[in-house]
Amino acid sequence: MEWHRRHVLGLSDFHPEEMEFVIDTARSMEEVLTRDIKKVPALRGKTVVNLFFEASTRTRTSFEIAGKRLSADVVNFSSATSSVTKGETLLDTARNIEAMKPNILVVRHSASGAALFLSRHVSCSIINAGDGQNEHPSQGLLDLYTILKVKGKIAGLKIAIVGDILHSRVVRSDLHSLGRMGAKLWLCGPATLVPREMERTGAVVTSDIREAVRGADVVIMLRIQLERQKTAYFPSLREYSRRFGLNRDVFSLAKDDAVIMHPGPINRGVELSDELADCERSLVLLQVESGVAVRMALLYLLAGGSHVAH
Ligand code: NCD
Repeated sequence: MEWHRRHVLGLSDFHPEEMEFVIDTARSMEEVLTRDIKKVPALRGKTVVNLFFEASTRTRTSFEIAGKRLSADVVNFSSATSSVTKGETLLDTARNIEAMKPNILVVRHSASGAALFLSRHVSCSIINAGDGQNEHPSQGLLDLYTILKVKGKIAGLKIAIVGDILHSRVVRSDLHSLGRMGAKLWLCGPATLVPREMERTGAVVTSDIREAVRGADVVIMLRIQLERQKTAYFPSLREYSRRFGLNRDVFSLAKDDAVIMHPGPINRGVELSDELADCERSLVLLQVESGVAVRMALLYLLAGGSHVAH
C-alpha cells in the first residue's frame, strides 16, 4: 500500500487496509524497540513539535519517545492556558510554530476540530493527539494493535466500552478502528452519558454493565471526564462506581479469557477496582507499550517513510 496522507486528524475516513498498514509498520517499529540501541535514523533532520494545550502524561511522553527513537528533534510545547479564546490562541500559535519550520505538529486541544483547524493554517503535517471530545486517532490505533496482539483478530469479538461515552474522544476513535475491523461493540454508561446517536454507529447501547460485560472478549473502561462535564450527569461518584465500576463480580460475567483495557489515567476505585487494574488480565501497560510503536509508525509514515529503515 502507498501512504498518501499528510495529516492524521481522525480515523473516520481510515479504511481497514490503511489501519492494517499502520499496524504492520508499528510491528516493524516494535522490533526496533527490542534492540539494545532503540534508535534508527529514519527521521534524522526532521523536527516534531508536541503542542499540548491539555494535560497529558502518556500521549505526550509516548510521542516524544517515538520521535526520539526515530532520531527526530522533538520539541515540547505545553500550555494550560484556557482564558484566551480558543480560535485566537490556536491561530496565533499556528503562525508562531509555522515560523519555526517543524515537519510534524502533534496537537492536543480541548476544542473539537482544533487539529483540523490547524491543518488548514500550517504547511507541516498534523497529528491529532486528542481534540476535545472528537477523536484521538493514535489511541484508536493502539487499542486496535493491543487487541490484535492478544486476541489475534478483531472480527467477531464482543468489545464492551463502559463509562463516560459522551465526552470520550477515545470511544469515537475506537468506534472507527475496532468497529470497522468487525468487532461487536457494546457501549455502556449512565443514560445521560451515552448519546442516542451512538446507536447509529451500529453499536449496542445499554445502561446495564452486566449486560455489556456478559460474554465479552474485551472490556474497555473509560475515565469520567469531570473536566468536560458542565452539569451533573450522575448523582455522585460513589453511586456511579456502584453501577458502572468494573469489579471482580461483574468481570466474572465476561469470557474466561477476557481482558481489561483503559486508556489512562485510571481513577482507581471509580471505574476500575485496584484489584482489576493490576491483575494479569489488565492490558493497561501493554497499551502504553503498543502506543510508542504505533506513534513511531505514524511519525514515520507522515515523514515520508514507506518501508522500515534498519
Ligand atoms: C485519554 C484522553 O486524553 O483522551 N487519555 C489518553 O490519551 N491516554 C483518556 C482520558 O483522559 O480519560
